[in-house]
Amino acid sequence: MARRIKIFDTTLRDGEQSPGCSMNLEEKIEIAKQLEKLNVDVIEAGFAISSKGDFESVMNIAKTLKNTTVTSLARALEKDIDVAYEAVKYAVSPRIHTFISTSPVHMQYKLRMSPEEVIEKTAAMVAYAKKYVSDIQFSAEDATRTEPEFLARVVQTAIKAGATVINIPDTVGFTTPNEMFDLIKYLKQNVSNIDKAELAVHCHNDLGMAVANSLAAVQAGASQIECTVNGLGERAGNAALEEIVMALNTRKPYFDIDCEVNTKQIYRTSRLVYNIIGMTPPINKAIVGTNAFAHESGIHQHGVLAEKSTYEIMTPESIGLKTNNMVLGKHSGRHAFEDKLIELGYDFTQEEINTYFEKFKELCDKKKQVNNNDIIAIVTNKMTYKPGTYELDRFDVHASNKNAATCVIVLKADNEFTEEVAIGDGPINAAYNAIDKIVSIKGHSLENYSINSVSDGTDALGEVVVKIRYNDNTYIGRGLSTDIIESSILAYVNGINKIIEMG
Ligand code: KIV
Ligand code: ZN
Repeated sequence: MARRIKIFDTTLRDGEQSPGCSMNLEEKIEIAKQLEKLNVDVIEAGFAISSKGDFESVMNIAKTLKNTTVTSLARALEKDIDVAYEAVKYAVSPRIHTFISTSPVHMQYKLRMSPEEVIEKTAAMVAYAKKYVSDIQFSAEDATRTEPEFLARVVQTAIKAGATVINIPDTVGFTTPNEMFDLIKYLKQNVSNIDKAELAVHCHNDLGMAVANSLAAVQAGASQIECTVNGLGERAGNAALEEIVMALNTRKPYFDIDCEVNTKQIYRTSRLVYNIIGMTPPINKAIVGTNAFAHESGIHQHGVLAEKSTYEIMTPESIGLKTNNMVLGKHSGRHAFEDKLIELGYDFTQEEINTYFEKFKELCDKKKQVNNNDIIAIVTNKMTYKPGTYELDRFDVHASNKNAATCVIVLKADNEFTEEVAIGDGPINAAYNAIDKIVSIKGHSLENYSINSVSDGTDALGEVVVKIRYNDNTYIGRGLSTDIIESSILAYVNGINKIIEMG
């Protein structure tokens, strides 16, 4: 029988540590719920002591999820462990994840501790955490640059003190698959109490080997892989969840490993995360990129038409993508629209379906055919207007290649309409200048602007994502329309609203 391994998702902790990938509480809860649908085993919801926001999100996720183990990271310090417990204690299955560095360079320069002090701290802090919950994960940070004999001593100590999971991080993405395989085998053979704990790996992608290293660890006997959706994470990121899961599934006879992830939720999870952090997947990204299942060359197309397996090693359906991209249009009724949402894997309340259907109808007035990507964009770009926030009423732009562009804009807030006009270097700059004259916040600046077409054709929906800097934080705004100036305005207003909502 195939061996079962666990998938530990750290998108909301290590993933969120990637520059420009911060998320607000609502967004984190939405991702956590989706990760539960994806059926991962453990969700690392944050680093509770690092900020009030992280504490709130770990606590709220712990309260919200129904089946999944929820953990918070904690340094090997009593105060970190206390706060981690306060946040995870509401979970159906709480875990505390404590860590300390074990490599010579980290012990000397980061911790300023001797190896013996690290051993003592490991024993004391694992035992301290054990007072709170039974499920304790211990990570030896920078394990792959640690002397194996010392690593084995630390691991043995942590298990003796009560750790139920031992994680071996390749913190700086330094190791190679063969070395990782040997290290896991070494620990299995040289730690006398190793069978009392699960062995996990956490691989970073600095040399592009995070997924390969994780799979090598599993082949050597590791039973938990830590990963993130879309491979987000510090620097070059972590091992990508979708790549690991699909490798194990597609090459099942080779690996002979089971994991319980519902692969049909992969595409949707990936899109949700990209949408929330305001990024679009590189088109050739493995598994979830737009080209992952596209066949361009004549020879390949011919082969796939004759027999899919000539060039397709996995099906688009297996990650929740429908090949039959049935389009909807202005004659499609609410029933067909609801069926399409169900087919795409969405749950919705009656209130949500009303909003989505209204947006769908608006889109049908502008676009003849509405496809899956358009519908995903409608659902993931849902906007709710809260008091004090702005709504676009109308705009009027004039642009030419000889003179500055002008834009008149009318925004509505709390039922009051405000009109402003501004000039700018192009119509979008003029619109943003006009918006800046209206809004109540000051001192913000546009950090990044990107535009992406979410479907094909000249009437495709243009999705604009902006990053606005305000008081040392970055806020992401998204806008969607068949008119790129409108989507640009909607994105900027959406970003400004997020700043106002955060108070
Ligand atoms: O990369 C790393 O070492 C980590 C640990 C804290 C698990 O993220
Ligand atoms: Zn990490």
